[in-house]
Amino acid sequence: MSSSKFQKLFKPFQVNKVTYKNRIVSAPMTFSLSALDPQVAEKSYRKVESRAKGGVAAVIVGETDINFTDADRLPFPNVDFTVCEGKSFDAFSEYSNRIHKYGAVAICELSHAGSEKIPFKGQKNPIGPVAFTTSKGIRVEAMTQDDMDRVANEFAIAAKFMQKAGFDGILIHGGHGFLFTQFLSPRLNTRTDMYGGTLANRAKFPLAILKRIREITGKGFIIDVRLSATEGVPGGVTVEETGGFCKMMEGIADSVHISTGLYTDPIVTHQFSSMFV
Ligand SMILES: Cc1cc2nc3c(=O)[nH]c(=O)nc-3n(C[C@H](O)[C@H](O)[C@H](O)COP(=O)(O)O)c2cc1C
Repeated sequence: MSSSKFQKLFKPFQVNKVTYKNRIVSAPMTFSLSALDPQVAEKSYRKVESRAKGGVAAVIVGETDINFTDADRLPFPNVDFTVCEGKSFDAFSEYSNRIHKYGAVAICELSHAGSEKIPFKGQKNPIGPVAFTTSKGIRVEAMTQDDMDRVANEFAIAAKFMQKAGFDGILIHGGHGFLFTQFLSPRLNTRTDMYGGTLANRAKFPLAILKRIREITGKGFIIDVRLSATEGVPGGVTVEETGGFCKMMEGIADSVHISTGLYTDPIVTHQFSSMFV
């Protein structure tokens, strides 16, 4: 690597009140909740710790469902994010400790799968911007105002939990076709009320989530937002609209983490780069 080409790569910079020692961030990879299984807990910690040890400025611990009713994608043990003590809390504190040990910034990703969720036995239908039946035959219910208020609050409660567990910030999983993108996408959000239509309307619920997190966690906590700049499918979110949404987040979120594509079609939409990209 020619140092003349990458003048800034190893220079520190500041996000909110936190100094990143360089410009390299380790993206979220795999589910944080694996640490709740004693058989793989140590491996989960070491997987995160080794990334910090490698010298990146920040390590993002991957997908953390914000509830265990309509947000969760895999049947991990449930966490009560209102309880900031005990086994689950200790597991998340261990992640942040291992990251801090090497001078890296600790960020935890919070996610809600929205209409991408497949219900487990006994769970209600998934929720999303509008009611429809998925290609797998699963009925998705349109979110009500109460659902939106609850979900925004649950994001904030989980964020507060992470703050108390020693994380410097959270990353909202707003990419790859999850709830955020589902609201932002003109393809998926065809609501006819104040939450659908123009970009300003489609952005209202995502912005409400961010504002609620800021209210609960305060000024100094990093709010990072992962977005798919484009969904990579016809009628989906475009780079221009993502740029417009980023402007709307100014003053609420601290940083934007740009990804791309959809989980439902990861190779074609470039969510995971194939060797041909
Ligand atoms: C094993 C694995 C697990 C991943 N888990 C997550 C995750 O928890 N949250 C997330 O937002 N992205 C996740 N990703 C996506 C990556 O953060 C990244 O966006 C993707 O690998 C594309 O980047 P690349 O082309 O550099 O691999 C995961 C990727 C891999 C390979």
